[in-house]
Amino acid sequence: MPEHVRIYEVGPRDGLQNEATPIPTATKARYVDLLVAAGLREIEATSFVSPKAIPQLADADALLAALPRPTGVRYPVLVPNERGMARAEAAGADALAVFTAATDAFTERNIGMTVAESLDAFAPVLTRARALGWWRRAYVSTAFGCPYTGAVDPARAVDVGLRLLELGVDEVCFGDTIGVGVPSQVVELTQVAVDGGIPREQIAYHFHDTRGTALANVAAGLAAGVRAFDASSGGTGGCPYAPGAAGNLATEDLVYLLDAMGYEHGVRLEGVLEAARFVAEALGKPLTTKVGQAGGWDPRTGAPVGRA
Ligand code: COA
Ligand code: ZN
Repeated sequence: MPEHVRIYEVGPRDGLQNEATPIPTATKARYVDLLVAAGLREIEATSFVSPKAIPQLADADALLAALPRPTGVRYPVLVPNERGMARAEAAGADALAVFTAATDAFTERNIGMTVAESLDAFAPVLTRARALGWWRRAYVSTAFGCPYTGAVDPARAVDVGLRLLELGVDEVCFGDTIGVGVPSQVVELTQVAVDGGIPREQIAYHFHDTRGTALANVAAGLAAGVRAFDASSGGTGGCPYAPGAAGNLATEDLVYLLDAMGYEHGVRLEGVLEAARFVAEALGKPLTTKVGQAGGWDPRTGAPVGRA
């Protein structure tokens, strides 16, 4: 039996949030449809944050309400505060992600709170989400390094993760927000997290390929026993409050790696490539991801797979 890996698609949220070209709600909905058709089952759809902070996602209410709800598909949404929670509830959400970081400097720029203040702000949100039976994730950004304060002690990231577990999240996602992490850090962070009391099954990783280390970091995470990874089809995105944070790990690159390593994940590469081309076209940008350009590879024939 091949081992299962969860691919958590962040393209519609993290991928689009930093893009200046306004994307119509219907185009976003079509993009999510293509991701569902590709077999993705966890798709972070949008954010219920201040529209002044992230204008691209100001249509969250309309988008979420418009999405079809096939069985087995989850659309977590970002929620920063009780106001966002009320909006997410009204729009029919049933899964959320709260987001803080390992460093105060980043959290203050991103959401105007220290890490401790953000945890206080999330507590009522997570209590409400739990009462409603929602799936709950928490991001710990800058877990591998901060654009404002530099190196981050893994113990600090884990400490924030533990606080979030105490607040009742189902999953802690450690983010390499600015793409500075390397495999040895992934091994160390995983070990510190597990030793500190965060079960491996509740750890996910969110890597950026800013410096070309994302797939190496995934391989290190897999070797360390982690089985949940974020990715953005087309490799779009990055946080606007993280200077130089270009390039989420591309879903197509992740799928290629997992397929070739024999992990089961339920996602079709050709379908992801279709979604990646769709979003690139909507943004008026060329598709520059590795597998987006080269296609996959069929070991039975030696031919590329899914190229345009
Ligand atoms: N949804 C919609 N509007 C919201 C909101 C929400 N969840 N939370 C706050 N607002 C509005 C307030 O009503 C207020 O509007 P006004 O200026 O018209 O009165 C304005 O946003 C500011 O609200 P305030 O409570 O003073 O918060 P703030 O200015 O300190 O901002 C956040 C705090 C968290 C709302 C804001 O920083 C934010 O949304 N950040 C998100 C950043 C993000 O998504 N980053 C990418 C993820 S990595
Ligand atoms: Zn990201």
